[in-house]
Amino acid sequence: MTEEQYRKIVDELIELLDEGVYIVDKDGVGIHYNSAMAKTEQVSVGDVLGKKFHEAFPDFRLGESTIYKALTRNQKTRSDQQTYKNMYGKEITTENYTIPVIVSGETVAAIEVSKDITDMRTMSDTLLELREGAMKKESPRSPEIKTYTFDDILGRSDAFSAVVARARKAAENDASVFIYGETGTGKELFAQSIHNQGRRSGKPFLAQNCAAIPESLLEGILFGTTKGSFTGAVDRAGLFEQANGGTILLDEISAMPYDLQSKLLRVLQESYIRRIGGSKDIPVDVRIIATVNEHPEELMAKGLLRKDLYYRLNVINISIPPLRERKDDIALLSESFMEKYNKRYHKEIWMLSDEALEKLQAYDFPGNVRELENIIEQAVSMADNEHVLTSKLLNLPDFRVAKEPPVRFSDGMALDEYLSNIEAQIIADEMVKNNGNITKAAEALKIRRQTLQHKLKKYEIK
Ligand SMILES: Nc1ncnc2c1ncn2[C@@H]1O[C@H](COP(=O)(O)OP(=O)(O)OP(=O)(O)O)[C@@H](O)[C@H]1O
Ligand SMILES: [Mg+2]
Repeated sequence: MTEEQYRKIVDELIELLDEGVYIVDKDGVGIHYNSAMAKTEQVSVGDVLGKKFHEAFPDFRLGESTIYKALTRNQKTRSDQQTYKNMYGKEITTENYTIPVIVSGETVAAIEVSKDITDMRTMSDTLLELREGAMKKESPRSPEIKTYTFDDILGRSDAFSAVVARARKAAENDASVFIYGETGTGKELFAQSIHNQGRRSGKPFLAQNCAAIPESLLEGILFGTTKGSFTGAVDRAGLFEQANGGTILLDEISAMPYDLQSKLLRVLQESYIRRIGGSKDIPVDVRIIATVNEHPEELMAKGLLRKDLYYRLNVINISIPPLRERKDDIALLSESFMEKYNKRYHKEIWMLSDEALEKLQAYDFPGNVRELENIIEQAVSMADNEHVLTSKLLNLPDFRVAKEPPVRFSDGMALDEYLSNIEAQIIADEMVKNNGNITKAAEALKIRRQTLQHKLKKYEIK
């Protein structure tokens, strides 16, 4: 194959990608540059191809360029966030992967793959500004946001009462709290109650879901940024400063990048934060409540949660049992939800029939209390003039597979069968969570709809 043919193949290939691709030769001259990259940087391909890096991007300081580091120091950079101005002065933020290409010990090129996260950054900036705006008003929390107290936490089963008692104790002191509970078990409810009952109640309670924000932005959101830390960065307080004196709820803390977890640990130990790019240590006094919805031991085993951070946060441990393990609470919760939705829908359902309660107790609620609430809301809204909620008003998902997978793989078991069993169970659970919506379940499982349909048939999940 000639060099020209080979070049054409590479060009066609990188044109197909959504990510921007930029390849320079050993002298820093652009040899490949795709239109995705040109679109991000708002330059034309011709402005970069055949030109040296610093001609194409005159505003960029060479020492800060990842591509330059790759060429001169053979340095790989992964997911480094860069904010810079393109030729026409438009500011863009990208997340980059940059590698040197080394042949027989010699660096012959550098490749940069780049994801445009400008919109994401704008979004996170707006988010912080909005929060800051809300904080400046008189009340520490905006009135539209429902705040919970222990009075809102319902449940009398032994398993649950013990947990509530622990949480009440937690409100009396100031230690970090680690809450583990499946989705919908009331982690937010507990976190807010602990804050509102404690001595910090007059101060802000700020919640941040660590999974909802791109990794590279989370640090700035938590600790703030300083002017000049990267082009266009402004002086802004992060959540730690905004919540000073109060509480920060870090939801799904295992989604926080590993490096950031160790920075967080340092902040907790030293009670100082430093804004990105800043040199000043700013004292902060914030109580941390962290949550996870998978077992912490498993998260640590998977390398998603740092052990040292976990032990630092886990001063008070609150483990909320799933609803299927405290079925005694179903009646009480249902009645309270009936009352709530009677008002909303102008209905008069006064009680739950025995068989309706039995049906609810037989169900395993993968979505926990949130799911029960939805089921009761739906039932109440569907009711006519009746005063009893009967089982025919209950629309319970019914996607179960006959055989639960064996807990542990053991001798004599066929691997295929064991794995299929697990797959069937996961699919069935996801179908329940999504109320039988195949499209949504497929999205959650990150498989194609057709694939899911095929598997539903194969495993006879209906
Ligand atoms: N014990 C309870 N008593 C009354 N309502 C509850 C209880 N537990 C949960 N709820 C209700 O269930 C819903 C879900 O609760 P919450 O948002 O606190 O769950 P979560 O554990 O944070 O879920 P996720 O992991 O999905 O964020 C809320 O509407 C909450 O009021
Ligand atoms: Mg939550």
